[in-house]
Amino acid sequence: MPLTLVAARETADGERRTPLVPETAKKFAALGAKLRLESNASLESHFLDSDYADTEIKASLAETYAGADVILRVTPPSDEEIAALPDGSVLIGLLKPYSSKERLAALNAKKITAFALELLPRISRAQSMDALSSQGACSGYQCGLIAAARCTKFFPMLTTAAGTVRPARALVIGAGVAGLQAIATCKRLGAMVEAYDVRAAAKEQIESLGAKFVDTGVSAEGSGGYARELSAEEKAQQAEKLTKAIAAADVVITTASIPGRRAPIIVTKTMVERMKYGAIIVDLAAETGGNCELTQPGEHVVYDDVHIHGPLNLPSRMPTHASELYAKNLYNFLSPFIKDGALNIDWEDEVVAGTLLCKDGATVHPRVKELLGEV
Ligand code: NAI
Repeated sequence: MPLTLVAARETADGERRTPLVPETAKKFAALGAKLRLESNASLESHFLDSDYADTEIKASLAETYAGADVILRVTPPSDEEIAALPDGSVLIGLLKPYSSKERLAALNAKKITAFALELLPRISRAQSMDALSSQGACSGYQCGLIAAARCTKFFPMLTTAAGTVRPARALVIGAGVAGLQAIATCKRLGAMVEAYDVRAAAKEQIESLGAKFVDTGVSAEGSGGYARELSAEEKAQQAEKLTKAIAAADVVITTASIPGRRAPIIVTKTMVERMKYGAIIVDLAAETGGNCELTQPGEHVVYDDVHIHGPLNLPSRMPTHASELYAKNLYNFLSPFIKDGALNIDWEDEVVAGTLLCKDGATVHPRVKELLGEV
């Protein structure tokens, strides 16, 4: 029996992406898999059911998931969607592994083999599967656009008949994948860009994009290329140096996060009070609590005439490209294990082992177990 690979319509609030695009459906079919899609599952990303060749279209979630071997998702399944998953099936997506013990318990009760793409090891070989990177690039780009659209100044320097205007000053805090894309977007639009990150390696990357590195003297390289949490002294040192840069900026974009933890507070209320009237903060870390003390996730807050935006699910603002990249990440992750329509996962593979969240009724990922406690 060939492997049945399915995708249903994403139901999370504001989610417009799809995990299966026509191009990847065609490629999976070429490997011998049977494809199934819930009707109109990809409409919000602007792919029609009729764009999918060799794909069975089903009217409901229950029909889509019935008897499926592999379920592709963007977001974690809801309780109702978990109930529709066939026992023992394989689930792959951005499953927010640290966020819900109850969801893990429900998946384990059905002996689901779950892969959470957030856990994918950040190694060179896995770059083509790296959904945090592909979606982070979308988020960073969107942050740059939001900042430019909300800013009351031109981003570029402009010479007009009425006189010359100076370029806007943008400061990007956190220069991972999203931050670097935010820097590049602000630069393309002509702003003067400064940026800061606690990882020493970020300095060179910031400078390679033509931005100026803000040196606070704090370095906090953690494991796996991620940043670690800062000590109280380090936080104080960072705050002192950053306050000046924040006060001088027209736009501050914050993207700092620590996997599995609340985002660090970097921009305090006192710093906001020292910002220019009309300045803007776009807090990409709003999803995990925000880097600004005043951020309200999903809201636009005005404090002391500083506009603080906490947008959520930024990739869904550009669902066509976000879905195309994400669907390719899924294809690159799964396709090496599909041959002649059969799924043969190599459990010893470093990428597979690192991404595996649950198997055979138990949570297996060590960091998730440590942070959530045994499930
Ligand atoms: P992330 O989304 O986890 O964090 C964003 C940025 O915030 C990071 O650069 C982090 O250093 C920074 N940050 C954390 N705490 C901070 C603080 N208190 N102040 C200022 N900045 C702070 O990062 P992302 O984009 O997921 O990348 C994580 C790491 O993985 C990076 O080293 C990146 O270069 C690496 N990476 C490696 C890949 C590969 O080789 N396959 C692919 C993508 C990323």
